[in-house]
Amino acid sequence: MYAIMGLSVLLALATPFVRAALFINKKTYMGPDFFQDFTWQTADDPTHGRVNFVDLQTALVKNLTAASPNKFVMRVDSTTVVSNDARGRDSIRIISNDAYDDAIILIDLSHMPFGAATWPAFWTLSGEGPWPNGAEIDIIEGVNYDTQNLASLHTTSSCSMAEQRPQSGFTVSTNCDAAVNWNQGCGTRFAKANSYGAGFNSAGGGWFAMERSREDGVKVWFWSRLEDDVPRNIRDADALLDPSSFGMPSATFPKDTCDYDTHFNAHKMIFDTTLCGDWAGSEFNSTGILGGCDKYVDNTPDAFREAYWEVNSLHVYSPLPDNFSGIVFPENIL
Ligand SMILES: *[C@@H]1O[C@H](CO)[C@@H](O)[C@H](O)[C@H]1NC(C)=O
Ligand SMILES: *[C@@H]1O[C@H](CO)[C@@H](O)[C@H](O)[C@H]1NC(C)=O
Ligand SMILES: *[C@@H]1O[C@H](CO)[C@@H](O)[C@H](O)[C@H]1NC(C)=O
Repeated sequence: MYAIMGLSVLLALATPFVRAALFINKKTYMGPDFFQDFTWQTADDPTHGRVNFVDLQTALVKNLTAASPNKFVMRVDSTTVVSNDARGRDSIRIISNDAYDDAIILIDLSHMPFGAATWPAFWTLSGEGPWPNGAEIDIIEGVNYDTQNLASLHTTSSCSMAEQRPQSGFTVSTNCDAAVNWNQGCGTRFAKANSYGAGFNSAGGGWFAMERSREDGVKVWFWSRLEDDVPRNIRDADALLDPSSFGMPSATFPKDTCDYDTHFNAHKMIFDTTLCGDWAGSEFNSTGILGGCDKYVDNTPDAFREAYWEVNSLHVYSPLPDNFSGIVFPENIL
């Protein structure tokens, strides 16, 4: 029998036929969990970045990663001049060992990489593939000096989004099919100016939540740490979440124009920081920089001091089973 807290459960038990979709904490990743529960990938960057993804041992020895009970850090090397014939600047790409179907993924971040040539991302990807079968959901992504986050889907064919939909962000592109528009996917640029980069970091970061479900499709929310109205169950990472209390999503990808069962299966979670490559490289401002993006990466280690992720916690929630019956502790009621 579960022991859980929350007003929403009281309501759910009292009114079983109109019960909201609730999610219960399934797994929490903090500090050293990322050393065990993620695989450290070392293959060439598929997006052609000027990076050398290193394994966990190398990252530890080179001080590119660190963990304490409630911090996990992943850095780009910021001390070495990279030689011409190297694969690129040392960086990190990790993927979760577990894959999750319908879920809420809640991440509390205090710092993200940003700056010229950088292209950090936190996303989910089909555990089965091959890409783009089963889809890719980009939760946090941007390049160079961007100030607003971009959330996107990349899918197989017959998945698109209406220009206007219930989201606070701005529709950038509407065809999610990875085979068209040079794999731009369907993206929404967040309205909040501190949802990415320097502004995100100077506010002390914040929270991103992504819900994906058969009932609701895909939604992404963002709250800066400085906001007054961060939902309390997000701030506290409560055991039970009710996404109907989160307010308007920053980005919404409804299932009515993108069939859920044919496009999505269980996903793993990935973090990386790449440099230059297909996106950051093509938008890199090379004015006054001899040799362009790759040479800038090789010759300017100092420029990557801010190119690090600092994760406070990552929580995965699963839908509460329909036949759930729990003990309710009412002290959590507002
Ligand atoms: C490793 O990095 C941390 C923080 O980034 C820094 O404080 C520390 O001095 C570094 N350690 C070494 C041995 O370079
Ligand atoms: C590109 O960099 C140059 C030199 O630093 C700067 O003057 C210019 O404003 C930049 N252009 C853009 C579009 O950011
Ligand atoms: C709830 O349903 C699942 C799947 O149908 C079943 O495995 C589980 O035993 C049920 N639990 C209870 C408490 O009835």
